[in-house]
Amino acid sequence: MKTRERTTGNIIELEEVSKKYQLGEVCVTAVDNISLGIAPGEFVVVLGPSGSGKTTLLNLIGALDTASSGDICMDGKYITRMNRAERSRYRRETVSFVFQSFNLFPGLTALENVQFGVESAERKPNGGTAKEMLSRVGLEHRLHHFPHQLSGGEQQRVAIARALATGNPILLADEPTGELDFKTGIQILELLHEQSHSGRTVLIVTHNREIARVADRVVELSSGHIVRDGVPENHIAAIADLSW
Ligand SMILES: Nc1ncnc2c1ncn2[C@@H]1O[C@H](COP(=O)(O)OP(=O)(O)OP(=O)(O)O)[C@@H](O)[C@H]1O
Ligand SMILES: [Mg+2]
Repeated sequence: MKTRERTTGNIIELEEVSKKYQLGEVCVTAVDNISLGIAPGEFVVVLGPSGSGKTTLLNLIGALDTASSGDICMDGKYITRMNRAERSRYRRETVSFVFQSFNLFPGLTALENVQFGVESAERKPNGGTAKEMLSRVGLEHRLHHFPHQLSGGEQQRVAIARALATGNPILLADEPTGELDFKTGIQILELLHEQSHSGRTVLIVTHNREIARVADRVVELSSGHIVRDGVPENHIAAIADLSW
């Protein structure tokens, strides 16, 4: 019997992880034998073109999907060896998500969506109340709007406020600036960056090479493989100096 715990100092540890999808006769390898270790408090950008496996990788790390092979150890515990109940508890206690498609509840207002995130997370917010978080993403005037009454960028900011309002130690954000204009995008990146300064581990997925320049570390994917892992090319320290 394999041990269920491990100590490496990394909060995220992937060991030869693959994810294959079977579509009829065709097998798609979305994540192909990836090994990766991420230390607590790192601000990491996962970069890669459309279809390179970024969302699949994030879903595996967040225990929203199961690996076809390999092991994933999060915060010292192998999520790949957990049962459903343990995985569900891990999600509530350890990760906060910003989904590529936002996943807001259509019948809840912006404020209620963020409150729901706070209430369902095991660890209580360290960043302020739901209302304060919505104000930090510039939506203090949209608290009582339902998702269908919000623009794409506003919905994205509600999803970000929901993730920021929980106290879970790992923040996974899938294309968090994809719907935002440049100025709002910079503000959101600054907010996400601040999270890593306060000790959270932040993983941002993007296909935008400019955004990668402000990361501590860039993990670049192509066809499910890591093709580069290190400090970003042309690194810049100040997010305000970015342009795209
Ligand atoms: N549920 C699924 N069933 C079958 N194939 C899938 C499934 N999910 C993803 N794939 C395939 O796996 C590959 C990686 O998909 P993924 O969504 O991880 O890419 P991505 O890098 O996030 O792309 P994008 O930038 O467009 O969001 C793609 O070729 C995709 O078609
Ligand atoms: Mg994706």
